[in-house]
Amino acid sequence: MYTDQMQSYLFIILEWMAILFIFLIGVLVIVIAVLYIIDITQKEHAVRRNYPVIGRFRYLFEHLGEFFRQYFFAMDREELPFNRSQRSWCYRAAKNLDNTVAFGSTRDLRPPGTILFVNCPFPTLDEDAVEPKQVTIGPHSEKPYVTSSLINISGMSFGAISKPAVIALSNGANMAGCWLNTGEGGLSKYHLQGGADIVFQIGTAKYGVRNDAGELSDDKLRDVASHEQVKMIELKLSQGAKPVKGGILPGAKVTKEIASIRGIPAGQDSISPNRHHDIESNTQLLDMIHRIRTVTGRPVGFKTVIGAHGWLDSLYEEILERGVESAPDFMTIDSADGGTGAAPMPLMDDVGMPIQESLPLVVDKLTEYGLRDRIKIIASGKLITPTNVAWALCIGADFITSARGFMFALGCIQALQCNKNTCPTGVTTHDKDLQRGLNPEDKAVRVKHYAKNMVKEVGIIAHSCGVHEPRELRRFHARLVSNEGRSVPLDKIYPEVMGRS
Ligand SMILES: Cc1cc2nc3c(=O)[nH]c(=O)nc-3n(C[C@H](O)[C@H](O)[C@H](O)COP(=O)(O)O)c2cc1C
Repeated sequence: MYTDQMQSYLFIILEWMAILFIFLIGVLVIVIAVLYIIDITQKEHAVRRNYPVIGRFRYLFEHLGEFFRQYFFAMDREELPFNRSQRSWCYRAAKNLDNTVAFGSTRDLRPPGTILFVNCPFPTLDEDAVEPKQVTIGPHSEKPYVTSSLINISGMSFGAISKPAVIALSNGANMAGCWLNTGEGGLSKYHLQGGADIVFQIGTAKYGVRNDAGELSDDKLRDVASHEQVKMIELKLSQGAKPVKGGILPGAKVTKEIASIRGIPAGQDSISPNRHHDIESNTQLLDMIHRIRTVTGRPVGFKTVIGAHGWLDSLYEEILERGVESAPDFMTIDSADGGTGAAPMPLMDDVGMPIQESLPLVVDKLTEYGLRDRIKIIASGKLITPTNVAWALCIGADFITSARGFMFALGCIQALQCNKNTCPTGVTTHDKDLQRGLNPEDKAVRVKHYAKNMVKEVGIIAHSCGVHEPRELRRFHARLVSNEGRSVPLDKIYPEVMGRS
């Protein structure tokens, strides 16, 4: 009796499922027919017109390809901007996992441009190694900044990156003892939350320190400087990914909070001017640096990507005429292949010099004019693994900053979606659902580990070269593989420059 009832229920369920199945098939056929008619009659897309319905999968696969290529098809060392082996190093460093490798190197040591460090027959013993020494930036400002931090967090605005990302960076930077650059979107409570040292960046739109007319406001500068955590001010002339173009934040990412911090309307594209309206010469640049330094009492420097470089001679000459106190306290040299939240492709691909060329040029010019000690050099641009950082130190950088290295520490998977509001890891989106994936407490620890492991492994290179700490690395400690396939010492490629007498 009981089994009969069960059987009849089962039949009813099966009948309904069969009806539902036939119904769904019917709906599917109708949808395909409608799509077919739409595709074959539309005139905009050739592929869809020639291959109705099926042609649509192309767009889907093209989109999914961005995510899946890296897992299935790309070799360990062939992707751009960062290949799998670089990304893996960052992930493992951030997770504080064992970063040793087995069997042998998968790196081909023959291509021109490969960097090789010169190990010493009597390397530095662990007990003789020392921590990176302290460096003073801005000795003539009211509050010079003294830090030993080697690797720091490069400017990424709150807006380009999300609230949990800023919170994680701020806490992570504090734990690691490095600084956090605000990027050009102003100073938020999230930057301050972790207690880290802050470098406040002034972009061409002067977000966060502008008056109603969009001009630099001394009162607002004083407000920023009232936070003891703010240690330096960086005037952004340009960044590597988009020289001659200011910040671009699509309207979808301009939330009410971001708009109020920047002093702009919500929901509208936030486009910074191509340059500071009030800086169109070296004289005006030095005047502006003087003004900001006087108002804030902080060391002031500027960030730029080098393209044309004759202007550096006139800048340094003018500094010498005015007196070395007038000099910028630091220069941040960004590479043409630096990252960005959004930029036009021709600027990203084709304008500016890579750091490999610009860093030696800038360092040598400073030496030539006797300003090498006065103006500290911060280098950025794909310096996300110990090799690149150690190279920059050999060339003469005092500090390294990285944006994308720390994004990887936050969990970035290089989905290349920063210009939309769809970042799958929550790093560059303001979509609350996507931000759920980024836990600030957990990721702050990763930020700390990434910075600490970077310093540790750059130290390993330094010790193998026989010096006690990374800042003692010099050009003769590294070689570069030339076009002929032989490696040449860096000090031969970039010989020591004599200062002007
Ligand atoms: C998402 C994102 C946002 C950025 N925002 C800024 C910014 O506001 N100001 C700035 O000077 N540079 C900005 N940059 C550039 C970085 O600070 C850095 O100069 C560049 O990415 C090179 O370093 P990297 O190769 O380690 O990323 C941004 C980069 C990224 C990826």
